[in-house]
Amino acid sequence: MPTPSDLAVISGGSSGIGAAIGRMFCEENKAVALLARREENLRAVSTYLQAEGGDAHPLVVDVSLSTDVEKVSAFVKKFKGSLKYLVHNAGLARVGSVEHFSVADWKRTLDVNLTAPFVLTRHLLPLMSPDSHIIFINSVAGKQTFPEWSAYCASKHGLRAFADTLRKEVAARGIKVTTLFPGAVDTPLHDSLPYDWEREKMLQPTHVAEAVRYIIRQPSQVTVPELDLSHNAGLF
Ligand SMILES: NC(=O)c1ccc[n+]([C@@H]2O[C@H](COP(=O)([O-])OP(=O)(O)OC[C@H]3O[C@@H](n4cnc5c(N)ncnc54)[C@H](OP(=O)(O)O)[C@@H]3O)[C@@H](O)[C@H]2O)c1
Repeated sequence: MPTPSDLAVISGGSSGIGAAIGRMFCEENKAVALLARREENLRAVSTYLQAEGGDAHPLVVDVSLSTDVEKVSAFVKKFKGSLKYLVHNAGLARVGSVEHFSVADWKRTLDVNLTAPFVLTRHLLPLMSPDSHIIFINSVAGKQTFPEWSAYCASKHGLRAFADTLRKEVAARGIKVTTLFPGAVDTPLHDSLPYDWEREKMLQPTHVAEAVRYIIRQPSQVTVPELDLSHNAGLF
């Protein structure tokens, strides 16, 4: 297998959807830099991908901290190859009625789900090659709203607006911007949520990864601005 020289930076690459996207990029012979806070999970996913022949680089990064994000720029600058893909996937869900939702939870949700993609983009955009691709893992909550999900919905609606603006700014440079809106996906994100949803009726992380594969395989003159992904059975 030739040494991959195209790099994909994937935030939240240690779990669920991000780990599945990382594996897909390795299958496509791209190098991957996986960002997350918990080193043990990150190393487990990276080791697994490396054992499969992937060129995986774990980076312990809290995307909500500018100082940590600078580590990512430093890594990309040293990497021998082109930064071709940036996947904004790290995210969290905290729920509760507006009356009972804390300001701290509101701010944390906005910090990780909305401000962090802006900061990471700002740092990495100057390092991206002209034919590169920025992909946002948004959610059905970026288009619809649900009771008890105010902060999450606000962050994801904001993320859609940010991606749309960015798309218009970078199109002339040949950089594509795609937002994916998956319905519920069976990942650890649901482990701590107070709902008894039928996990078997959710999408699988690989479904989202396959959608990303479809997007990146499009010819250079074709862009997919947005893509919805839902389970046949409905939301849950
Ligand atoms: N699961 C769903 O139903 C669903 C549906 C639609 C969209 N999404 C979106 O898909 C994305 C991935 O979610 P998932 O379902 O795969 O959840 P997950 O399994 O909980 O994974 C979340 C990932 O984000 C990382 N992360 C969280 N906060 C971070 C921070 N401050 N800095 C760096 N990394 C951070 C986590 O690692 P650490 O905790 O180690 O940092 C983990 O790798 C999220 O944006 C989510 O909103 C999920």
